[in-house]
Amino acid sequence: MWKEIEAAPADAILGLTEAFKSDSNPNKVNLGVGVFKDDEGNTPILKCVKTAEEKLVKTETSKGYLPISGSPAYAAAVQKLLFGADSEVIAAKRASTIHSPGGTGALRVGADLLKKFSPDATLWVSTPTWANHKGIFSAAGFSIKDYPYYDAASKGVDFEGMLEALNAVPAGNVVLLHVCCHNPTGVDLSGEQWDQVVNVAVSKGWIPFLDFAYQGFGDSIEGDRGAVEKFAAAGIDFLVASSFSKNLGLYNERTGALTVVSPNAAEAAVAMSHIKTTIRVNYSNPPAHGGLAASGVLTDAGLYDQWIGEVAEMRERIKAMRVALVDGLASRGVKQDFSFIKEQRGMFSFSGLSNETVAWLKENKSIYIVNGGRINLAGLTSANIDYVCDSIAEALNA
Ligand code: LMR
Repeated sequence: MWKEIEAAPADAILGLTEAFKSDSNPNKVNLGVGVFKDDEGNTPILKCVKTAEEKLVKTETSKGYLPISGSPAYAAAVQKLLFGADSEVIAAKRASTIHSPGGTGALRVGADLLKKFSPDATLWVSTPTWANHKGIFSAAGFSIKDYPYYDAASKGVDFEGMLEALNAVPAGNVVLLHVCCHNPTGVDLSGEQWDQVVNVAVSKGWIPFLDFAYQGFGDSIEGDRGAVEKFAAAGIDFLVASSFSKNLGLYNERTGALTVVSPNAAEAAVAMSHIKTTIRVNYSNPPAHGGLAASGVLTDAGLYDQWIGEVAEMRERIKAMRVALVDGLASRGVKQDFSFIKEQRGMFSFSGLSNETVAWLKENKSIYIVNGGRINLAGLTSANIDYVCDSIAEALNA
């Protein structure tokens, strides 16, 4: 069956991890996939998660199926994080939340759902965007267009270009927006800019699909959800794909959520019925462990506080690595100014390294960076920062 078929290319991000694993260079460094690492280079299980898991293992009595939408306690906990416990959206029951297998699963369920009711809709994504966005929505049958986002000259957002493009998006099309810690650029909109984007969505009638995978990695859990609150206040239809891969470190438990927000409770109930039929023909119902561990943390006041502290630790370590990288390059006489990296937010640095430099670093130094120059700062440690800075300096000063 496969004799005449050409092999598919390796995944732009996860393929790097495969290549990294088979690299025998003892100095190798993986700055590709967005996974948090501590200063020892380990991806730890958060302490709050360990405690919740221990409790879960002791008290669970069955491995029977969860509902199609997942555990109701999990959905309620997700909504509190997204909108705030006192949100009108929750009181009015106008959000429908399901436990999806990771943020990717949330995007795919949302894409399948939208495709059913808007078969001709186009998806609009930022230039650039997460490498998998286009793949997920193309697989669901969407055609895809770009709106301007990153401005390489100013190292900021081309907000004028973005707004102009969003003003021209036809009603009923879908616009994918990164709530915080934009992946891959690390450059976010200000609160005022979000107000303007919300106004355009309301006046033009396109459907916002918010990707919210890094809550807590920008400023704080509450501080990062401003855009979600603004869309909620507008009273329009929108979707949110969220994930506990990063902020609870539940990468391999595939613990995400799709939340569809509607103008009122009656429409939210209709939305939920269709989300469930979409899931049933895909993976039927979600795996339980990650969701139950997450709601175990989020519904226990002590564990919740511990979690907030652990997220802050991860965030601060990444910030410290931004400084170490920028200072390390400057102290090696690299002429290019990298100080903008200190201002970027989240797990990534959109470094400005060219694809040629990225390829050189992989070939010659076994340093793995995503094409386009995105560096996972959490992959830097006290043990490898000098090697990485030396190598980049060698590449750029050559
Ligand atoms: C990333 O961007 O590296 C992460 O979101 C992991 C992934 O699935 O690509």
